[in-house]
Amino acid sequence: MSNDQTSSSSETHPFSSTKSAQPNACGSTLGRRTFMKRLGLAGAAALPAGTLLMSQMGARAAGGSSRLTSGDVAILRFLAAAEILETDLWQQYTELALGNLPYLKALQQLDGDMPTYVNQNTRDEFSHQNFINHYLMSKGQKAVNLEHFRTLPGSQATGSKGGKRLTNLLNLTVDTSWFNRYRFPGNPDFGDSFAQIVDLVNVPVIPNSDLPVGSDAIQFIANAAGFHFATIEQGGSSLYASFAPKVTSTEVGRIVAAIGGTEIMHFLLWEDKAGNAPAVPGLFPQLPVAPNGPDGNTFFPGDGTDPSQPDFTNQIMPAPCKFISTNLPLCSIVRPTLTANAGAMAAVAGLTASGLFNGQNSGFFDLLAELAEEADEARRDE
Ligand SMILES: [Fe+2]
Ligand SMILES: [Fe+2]
Repeated sequence: MSNDQTSSSSETHPFSSTKSAQPNACGSTLGRRTFMKRLGLAGAAALPAGTLLMSQMGARAAGGSSRLTSGDVAILRFLAAAEILETDLWQQYTELALGNLPYLKALQQLDGDMPTYVNQNTRDEFSHQNFINHYLMSKGQKAVNLEHFRTLPGSQATGSKGGKRLTNLLNLTVDTSWFNRYRFPGNPDFGDSFAQIVDLVNVPVIPNSDLPVGSDAIQFIANAAGFHFATIEQGGSSLYASFAPKVTSTEVGRIVAAIGGTEIMHFLLWEDKAGNAPAVPGLFPQLPVAPNGPDGNTFFPGDGTDPSQPDFTNQIMPAPCKFISTNLPLCSIVRPTLTANAGAMAAVAGLTASGLFNGQNSGFFDLLAELAEEADEARRDE
């Protein structure tokens, strides 16, 4: 390596982190600071009008004024509420996935790492709601707080830490149509609908009492949870995607894209694991699920027992589907993404219909509806 400073300053290194002096138009070198100063001194008159406009837009978009548009605030406030609710349900899952041995072992039938994956998903949701609320406060906005709605009892089984909950996992109707939606070229944004892969109607997804290790009952609950994990995360993936075209600030755009991307990562993991759910050999009076598999048993994909069903178990990447226009080629995407199907109101309606908020009071639903309506009405401020 040469110690000759004179020669090194005239050479450019492809991995150098400090810029060397730039040649000016006359061929002589001009320090970067001087160059920038002169550019500034040249004033607006030297810049094309479009450049000036771009820089003003850039400053605003980057939050230079540190003020968010009302639309961006509405999007973030709804997302904060949604993430708080996600955190609450994932926290309940984690307590039982780590602290209830029969449930832990049943989840491990889907994948040996299920308990730790559940724990990691919960950690991520904590970070999402915490970040979004702190970001709102950093911009002079109020954080979203749902603590006064923490009134639901939660599970009484071993592992549950007790305390009141925001969400109810004890009697859910789990929409499993995403399993088919992500394996066919249709798209709800074009009016397409998809059949359930398994009927999970009014079932618990966590145990409410201690069940025997290896019992059909606990396996059924774990299987149902395995599907619900993916149901929640695909909903989050679509929700964030619905907001992407509506944000004004590029910084809020980064938040929507980056946190939304994490929801997609979660969904893909759970979509893969749900396909491993084993068949449950029998029905249970307390679990009114219609038999849809051979021999009258509840069928879960992944057991390879139903020859009439296509083997989609390992087809977990999103199959290309209709997007924007049927005149365009099929495309592998998150779907749906239109507000009517994927937005805040759609999310609240879907979660409410699932029974996730059973036991909540009218004030809770009023607040959620208000936050959702304002978020869906947000428009990019051109
Ligand atoms: Fe999240
Ligand atoms: Fe999530």
